[in-house]
Amino acid sequence: MCGIVAYIGERQASPIIMEGLKRLEYRGYDSAGISIYHDKIKTFKKQGKVLELEKIIEGEDLQGTVGFGHTRWATHGPPNDVNAHPHTSNSGDIVLIHNGIIENYASLKAALMDLGYSFTSETDTEVLVNLIEEVQKSRNLTIGEAVRQSLNMVVGAYAIVVIDAKEPDKIIGAKNSSPLVCGVGENELFLASDATPIVKYTDKVIYIKEDEVITLCDDGTYSIVNLENEVTENPIEHIDLKLESIEKAGFEHFMLKEIYQQPITIAESMRGRINAAEGWAKLGGMAEYMNRIKQADRIILTACGTSWHSALIAEYLFEELARIPTEVEYASEFRYRNPIIKTNDFIIALSQSGETADTLAAIKMAKDRGALIYGIVNVVGSSIARETHAGSYIHAGPEIGVASTKAFTSQLTVLSLMAIILGYEKGMISQGYYRQLLTELESIPAKVERILKVDDHIKYIASEIKDANNSLYLGRGYNFPVALEGALKLKEISYIHAEGYPAAEMKHGPIALIDMHMPIVVIATNKRYYDKVVSNIEEVKARKGIIIAVVTEGDTAIKALADFVIEVPTTEDPLSPLLSVIPLQMLAYHIAVMRDCNVDQPRNLAKSVTVE
Ligand code: AGP
Repeated sequence: MCGIVAYIGERQASPIIMEGLKRLEYRGYDSAGISIYHDKIKTFKKQGKVLELEKIIEGEDLQGTVGFGHTRWATHGPPNDVNAHPHTSNSGDIVLIHNGIIENYASLKAALMDLGYSFTSETDTEVLVNLIEEVQKSRNLTIGEAVRQSLNMVVGAYAIVVIDAKEPDKIIGAKNSSPLVCGVGENELFLASDATPIVKYTDKVIYIKEDEVITLCDDGTYSIVNLENEVTENPIEHIDLKLESIEKAGFEHFMLKEIYQQPITIAESMRGRINAAEGWAKLGGMAEYMNRIKQADRIILTACGTSWHSALIAEYLFEELARIPTEVEYASEFRYRNPIIKTNDFIIALSQSGETADTLAAIKMAKDRGALIYGIVNVVGSSIARETHAGSYIHAGPEIGVASTKAFTSQLTVLSLMAIILGYEKGMISQGYYRQLLTELESIPAKVERILKVDDHIKYIASEIKDANNSLYLGRGYNFPVALEGALKLKEISYIHAEGYPAAEMKHGPIALIDMHMPIVVIATNKRYYDKVVSNIEEVKARKGIIIAVVTEGDTAIKALADFVIEVPTTEDPLSPLLSVIPLQMLAYHIAVMRDCNVDQPRNLAKSVTVE
């Protein structure tokens, strides 16, 4: 996934672009580049973070009120200066930045080479910019038309921005499957991958839809057509994203800030949706389709990564509380395996970014087969959100750290609400249990607050195991997916190999790995099958594994067995992941910091994987 930011208006473009690139760096940081027009196009680009780009443009004359910038997450061609965006056409007149993948770039490249075009990079993007040049020249078109007609020849996912030195009074943007949003200011316009580079200047945005081409003019006007050249209307919407919500607010890393925000963000995901005292809970997105959802023969949850772990927990929730058969699918598998989908299936897509390519494609496939598609998404107006029939935003605010934390617990909060509401609507849970669960759910933010207070103890444990090379995370029932999530957190930010397993599964192989050097994290907060988890811990201890146990406050049995214990408040089993995951987030964070890893931007990762 890459970051795009573009500006056309009355102000100098480069400061706006460079600051915007820094806000987008979480989307990818293999390389960065900028192009500015002033009498001619000037382009600077460099492997590495935006800081590296800043170093090479220092002292350069970057005057100009039209320009764009790009941060890259490499898909075609390794991260280096040559493959960095922007890419320039052979004539030097046209520059382009791109987020996505051109699937048919090889055949297009061959055809262009036959026409005499040469290429310096290994990217699909350089093929696209020269295709646009060829279409423009051979058909004598404006840059806007050349872009539109070229995109009709392209197969793949893209969000692109194009500047042509022959028409410097405009910028052309276009999207298909990758995100692109237009900011509308006073006599100035912006394009960006998301709203973070825009919110400082305007709260008015236009969400560009699939297969649309937008032309931004230097007089502040714009026009949008689809690939068939039909004018389309896109309403101006107002976003309430505040700049301070993007900053670190005094924390060393965005990830730590977002871990500590969870009492607030969990409460935000419930705001206006629950009142235990009055005995009600509601999700607006469900109301319109409630009958169809209640009659669903099956729920299918599809997602990737951490969101897939939320889906696994939701499987336990929906089957236990609502008694609806529930399945969980990796989106990347679901989209291609030609699944049997019926019109009476209820598909739930989980995605923090709302832009994950596999998840978007999976729900498009399911939608085409007649299923009801519901989205549980964080980013308002994102592609997945706009592809669904209905949905519930999780209201976690911008999640900048690549490792997902607050979005995970906010997803779980909404999913818990859905399962409780459905269970009660279908008569599967008593009114008494319904109100008990709502009351317990309302108490979760305060309980998370209590866990955050043992941060120093968790930091000490981290110092004791930070040099491990491998680790196992074990859990049962609702805490099995939590074990997977804890393992993912550790491996993606500390680069320690970690695997999550159902606790009972350990005997079927992984136990062979256990020795005195291996930390074993056991989530043991279950009320149900507590004794089984204790047995699993004893099996680990017999093999001298280092046991870190997450237990319910007051536990004594496991305290006697474990090397380290982290206590969390008690809660109902269905809600236990909301608490048991917090220490695992903190443990992973501290270990990563102690190992001098880049916590917010781990190597090889990006915040949202908008390509396959
Ligand atoms: C989680 O820490 C990872 N960054 C990653 O697995 C992420 O959850 C996954 O890419 C899905 O992203 P989404 O929720 O934005 O769809």
